[in-house]
Amino acid sequence: MNIETISWQNNRIRIIDQTKLPGRLQYLYINNLRELWRAIKELKVRGAPALGAAAGLGIYLAVKDSRAKTFGEFSAQLDLAAKYLASSRPTARNLFWGIERVCRVAGKNRNASLPRIKELIFQEALRIIEEDKLSCRRIGELGSALINDRDTVLTVCNAGILATIDYGTALGVIYRAVEKGKRIKVYASETRPLLQGARLTSWELKNKKIPVTLICDNMAATLMQQGKVAKVITGADRIAANGDSANKIGTYSLAVLCAYHNIPFYIAAPASTFDLGKRSGRDIIIEERDPREITGLFFRQPIAPRGVEVYNPAFDVTPHQLITAIITDKGIIRKPCRKNIKRVLK
Ligand code: MRU
Repeated sequence: MNIETISWQNNRIRIIDQTKLPGRLQYLYINNLRELWRAIKELKVRGAPALGAAAGLGIYLAVKDSRAKTFGEFSAQLDLAAKYLASSRPTARNLFWGIERVCRVAGKNRNASLPRIKELIFQEALRIIEEDKLSCRRIGELGSALINDRDTVLTVCNAGILATIDYGTALGVIYRAVEKGKRIKVYASETRPLLQGARLTSWELKNKKIPVTLICDNMAATLMQQGKVAKVITGADRIAANGDSANKIGTYSLAVLCAYHNIPFYIAAPASTFDLGKRSGRDIIIEERDPREITGLFFRQPIAPRGVEVYNPAFDVTPHQLITAIITDKGIIRKPCRKNIKRVLK
């Protein structure tokens, strides 16, 4: 099945509504910035690279019908749209990167006519999409060399087609390894509370006919103890200058388990996920989400007593010392640290 997570169709944004999966593959049209903000907040579109693409198209959507008369007016509208979109979710670097990228195009071409600037913003947004397709394939190509025939790989959350445009980062590595003829099995960790592993990763892998076994998050240690996991590969939402990597809550515990069991722990992410302005993971803002995601969402009955106190951080930070390598579109960063990151990303 050929699916495209996000695209521009009939003068609006088309996304796969990921909250409907695995039950239904349903597309949703986004007509304005407010709708996009909600779609991001509610994880209808999610995953760092997909958010970067959504950001570019979203800014274009916000200003394409602008009636501004001067660049000053136009630029003020752009700023407003950028700030609003950036307030949807705080952790994924790509969302901000996408916004900054298209806004920069406007700034650089301030002397062009406003229709021309709009056109340039649109082209830049489309370029983000095309680049994502290429960078995921590059990550897949490089990362697949780290995977052996008959490996069993464990992953968490969804860093696949649905988190990018059409290939994935962590799952892209697996897809490429399989394309090369390697026989790979995957354990998908369900990823409480929103179950991206159960709903999205296992759906994607089943579609691709790649053997996948769904596990609860708290089963990873047992699998490793039983020698059933050869490698762990995850995506990332934001990577600090020293290599500390924020990703879906539960990633850090997998990295700790890998260190104990002597299992390679890889992160796969494009250069656009790096935030060299953040010295370490301590500077990364971790999104906290609605407690109801833990107490009841997706279930007909509440699964916790009404009013119970809940802590619901959506991401955690894996210290770089626990990461065997970061697979990027610019190369593999082994033993990620400030120096090695700089050398590969340049
Ligand atoms: O809350 P989500 O579903 O947006 O979290 C997504 C992740 O944690 C992914 O692993 C990350 O964005 C990388 S996607 C290639």
